[in-house]
Amino acid sequence: MHSVDATTEQMIRSVLAYAENRLRLDPVPLDEGSRDPSELDLAVRGLLGDLPHNPDQVLGVYTSCLAPAVISADSPRFLGFIPAAPTKASLLFDMLISCASIQGISWLEAAGAIHAENQVLRLIADRAGLPPGAGGCFVSGGSAANLSALVVAREVAKRAAGPGGHRWRVAVSTDAHSSIASTLRILEMDPLTVRTDDHRLTGPALRAAIEADGDPSSIAAVVATSGTTNAGIIDDLAGVAAVCRELGAWFHVDGAYGGAGLFAPSVRRAYDGIEHADSFIVDPHKWLFAPFDCAALLYRDPALARSVHRQDASYLDVIHESPAEWNPTDYAYHLTRRARGLPLWFSLAVYGVRAYSDAIEAAINRARQAAAEIADRDYLALIREPELGVVLFRRTGWAPAQYTRWADQLLHDQVAFIPPTAWEGETVARFAFLHPHTPIDLVREILNRMA
Ligand SMILES: Cc1ncc(COP(=O)(O)O)c(C=O)c1O
Repeated sequence: MHSVDATTEQMIRSVLAYAENRLRLDPVPLDEGSRDPSELDLAVRGLLGDLPHNPDQVLGVYTSCLAPAVISADSPRFLGFIPAAPTKASLLFDMLISCASIQGISWLEAAGAIHAENQVLRLIADRAGLPPGAGGCFVSGGSAANLSALVVAREVAKRAAGPGGHRWRVAVSTDAHSSIASTLRILEMDPLTVRTDDHRLTGPALRAAIEADGDPSSIAAVVATSGTTNAGIIDDLAGVAAVCRELGAWFHVDGAYGGAGLFAPSVRRAYDGIEHADSFIVDPHKWLFAPFDCAALLYRDPALARSVHRQDASYLDVIHESPAEWNPTDYAYHLTRRARGLPLWFSLAVYGVRAYSDAIEAAINRARQAAAEIADRDYLALIREPELGVVLFRRTGWAPAQYTRWADQLLHDQVAFIPPTAWEGETVARFAFLHPHTPIDLVREILNRMA
C-alpha cells in the first residue's frame, strides 16, 4: 500500500488519466445527483471486504455508477444553492497538495505552506480594509468559520463582563445564514432577531431593536451578512459597525458567499464599513473559484483569537516556542488541517487578481442581464433587482408543484440545476450565478420553459 509497485503504477496511470479527462471538460456537464439507494448498493456491493480488488475495477464502479450520481456543482449549468467554479489551476494544485500530505497545523511543520496561505489572507484583508495586524487561517467552510469567530466574540464578552455574567446573545437579522442559528445553539447563546424592512440589516433597525430590548449588556456580538444566501443582499455594514462601536459589541461579517464581491469594482462601495469588522469570513470555495473545501477566516486582532483557540498540551509546546510563529491551529476550532488555502494561492498567482475581478463581475453582469430578460416576459415578475449574482423571480400564477416540475424537467433534460426557493413564504424561482461561463442563451432557455 505504501510502496511503488505494479498496482501503484497502474493506479497512477488510471487515476491520473481520469483526473486529466475531468480537468479537460469544458464545459463540465451537469450529471444527475439523487438516486435510489438500492441502485447504489448494487454498484458497490462486496467491494469493502478482506480481499483486494483490481484498481481499474473499483475505478470503473466510481466512474460508471457513483460519479454520474453527483450533480456537478462546477458546471456552468449549476444555478442552484451557491455553486462552485474552481479554476483549472486551483484544481491542479489541489491534487499536488493532496499528494504532498502537508500538515498545515504549525509554522514548525509547514512554514512554507502557511506563508503562502497568509499571503492570500493578507490580500483579502487588504481588500476589506482591515488593519495590517489582521490575520487568521483557512478552515473547511463558512459554518466552521462563523462558529470559530463567534466563539472568540463570546469569550471576549465574558472576559469583559467578569465572573457571573449573562447568557450571551447575538443580534442577527432574519436573513442571516442558517449556520449562525446553528452556531448560537452550539454556543448556548440566544439570538436577538432584528426585523428588517427589506431583508437588509441596517444601523437604524439594529439600534431600534436594541433600544426596544432592554438588556443590551447581554449582547456579545452582531452578525451582518455581506451577501445573503437567498437573495445576495449586502447589509448596511457601516451603519451596523457604528452601532457595534456604541454598544461595545463584536462586529462579525459573514461574507461566505458575497465576500468575494470585494474584488468587484462595480459593487465594492456596498461593502463600505467592512473595514470595522472584528471578524470577517469569505468562502473561496464559493465565489473565489477555489476547490472544496476552503473558507478564509480573518480577525482584526488575531491575538484575541489565539488566546481562545490555542490548544495546549505537552506534545504541542514545541509549536509555540518561537515568538515569530504563525500557527493556523491557533485561530479556529481545529488542530490537524489541510493547507487548503494553497490552491487559491497558486491560482491567484498564475492568473492574476484582475482575472478574478473580471470573473466575479461576469456573474454580476449575468444576473443583471437575467433580470432584464425576466422583466421582458409578461409571465414573469422580478422580485428584486439583483445586488450580486442571485436573481429571485416568480412565474405568475404558478403553484409550488409547478416550480418543482419545471426544475425537475430541466435537470432531467440536463439543461440546468435550478431548484426553487421560498421568498416571504411564497415558492419562487432563483438563479445563483457564479460560473463566469454561464451563457445568456441558457438563461433564456430556462425562462422560456416557464411560458
Ligand atoms: C452567507 C453564508 N454563510 C455561511 C454559509 C455556510 O458556508 P459553508 O457551506 O461553507 O459551511 C453559507 C453557505 O452558503 C452562506 O451563504
